[in-house]
Amino acid sequence: MLIAKNISSYYGNIQALDNISIEVNKGEIVSIIGSNGAGKSTLLMTLCGIVPAKTGSIIFNDTEISTLPTHEIIRMGVSQSPEGRRIFPKLTVYENLLIGDPLKREKDINLEFIFEIFPRLKERINQRGGTLSGGEQQMLSIGRALVSQPSLLLLDEPSLGLAPIIVKQIFETIKRINKENDTTILLVEQNAFGALKLSDRGYVLVNGKVTISGESKQLLENPEIKKAYLEGV
Ligand SMILES: Nc1ncnc2c1ncn2[C@@H]1O[C@H](COP(=O)(O)OP(=O)(O)OP(=O)(O)O)[C@@H](O)[C@H]1O
Ligand SMILES: [Mg+2]
Repeated sequence: MLIAKNISSYYGNIQALDNISIEVNKGEIVSIIGSNGAGKSTLLMTLCGIVPAKTGSIIFNDTEISTLPTHEIIRMGVSQSPEGRRIFPKLTVYENLLIGDPLKREKDINLEFIFEIFPRLKERINQRGGTLSGGEQQMLSIGRALVSQPSLLLLDEPSLGLAPIIVKQIFETIKRINKENDTTILLVEQNAFGALKLSDRGYVLVNGKVTISGESKQLLENPEIKKAYLEGV
């Protein structure tokens, strides 16, 4: 579904991604793990055209997307829930969800599945985003990304700053989105253990480079990964 090859991205003169290649197959959950500043968010932003790829190619369903603007990439079926959730605190839950619709269809948007997996959002539909708890804001951020009915959903640190019980719920919901809504998922996490438990395959990013990749089960057993990312878990 997605083949990114030899991607390099920069912020001015600072190189954030160094020749990265990753692949995501239809139906998979793939995780990207790595510590602070490794380039995880930059990778997701490059895939959806927010940060330009200076080198390499990004093929999504046989189409080169690395030169397309973000709204075109969203229309093709790629959508992102960004790091830090980025919900609009003064807008209601419903208004926040509408922002996820690139076609601005408003009346035609289908929120049924989103409300099925996040009944809390339905209960709070007229409440302002800023009054939601951290976990609810995360649900809203994922819900908003689902409004455009992506076939590939990019999730940037959905567990960040949430209590363990809420993290568990969010991870279970990610699995449901993958299974019940037929959505392929690329998941960025600092919670390496949780992400690898959830995913089929994973990539480790260090200083903008992929250092290790493979099946998540194997990565969980990898001594180098255990030492760097899983100790104390
Ligand atoms: N807007 C920016 N301007 C300049 N440099 C940036 C910018 N955003 C990120 N960087 C740099 O790019 C590199 C990769 O950052 P990125 O945010 O992609 O890492 P990350 O793996 O998502 O980190 P975190 O776990 O903290 O979210 C870092 O060296 C970071 O300092
Ligand atoms: Mg990040």
